[in-house]
Amino acid sequence: MVNYSFQEVIRSRQSIRQFLSTPVKEEVLRGVLEDAQYTPSNCNTQPWDVHIVSGAKKEELSKALINAFEKGQSSLDFTFDINDYFDRYAERQIEQGKTYYESLGIARGDQEGRQRVALRNFEFFNAPHAAFLFMPSFGDNVRVASDIGMYAQSFLLSLTSRGIGSIPQTRLGMFADTVRQVLGVSDDMKLLFGISFGYPDKEARANSFRMGRDPIESNVTFHD
Ligand SMILES: Cc1cc2nc3c(=O)[nH]c(=O)nc-3n(C[C@H](O)[C@H](O)[C@H](O)COP(=O)(O)O)c2cc1C
Repeated sequence: MVNYSFQEVIRSRQSIRQFLSTPVKEEVLRGVLEDAQYTPSNCNTQPWDVHIVSGAKKEELSKALINAFEKGQSSLDFTFDINDYFDRYAERQIEQGKTYYESLGIARGDQEGRQRVALRNFEFFNAPHAAFLFMPSFGDNVRVASDIGMYAQSFLLSLTSRGIGSIPQTRLGMFADTVRQVLGVSDDMKLLFGISFGYPDKEARANSFRMGRDPIESNVTFHD
């Protein structure tokens, strides 16, 4: 196993949007899931309910998601509206989209191209596996969603430390009813998002860019 420092792991993680089909070995995946189990949570409630899809089930789910997407049958457990972003948040969101589409050579007005790119989410970007992060519903759900977010970062970083790529996808949470139906998950469990993962295709254009970060002065205030 490669031994990366924590700094190397956190700074080298990037969202991967084209994977090789090589599966992740079961013992490696179990190690990642065991690492993620050490995530902190409010009152140690450990509210993560994780469903991993691979093989024939992944293909079945991909088909069902593409079908729902093409028919516009979305079913979100939590709202998502890109128009809610404002000021610098909207600027960053626009910059991210521009960088991504430019890396693929898709022009601004190319609606068909954009639709094709959106669809790649439901093909899991060719990843051999995807994890779906479900949660029970408590109160306004903000605390539990933050626990799931922390779990997701543990999962992503553990994958990175083992040379495995990943991408968190809100898109995969936009068809929660479809996912519940195909995986036989109870309606009580709410879907926050999914994560596709596997070995990165290092040659792919979709993986050729890195999103920057603002300096800490833009978001940290020191008080003493
Ligand atoms: C919760 C969450 C959901 C995301 N959903 C999507 C998605 O549906 N599709 C996608 O292509 N990227 C998605 N992303 C990836 C972000 O665009 C990416 O994290 C951001 O641009 C920063 O780039 P980096 O991950 O390469 O550092 C998501 C990221 C997070 C944290």
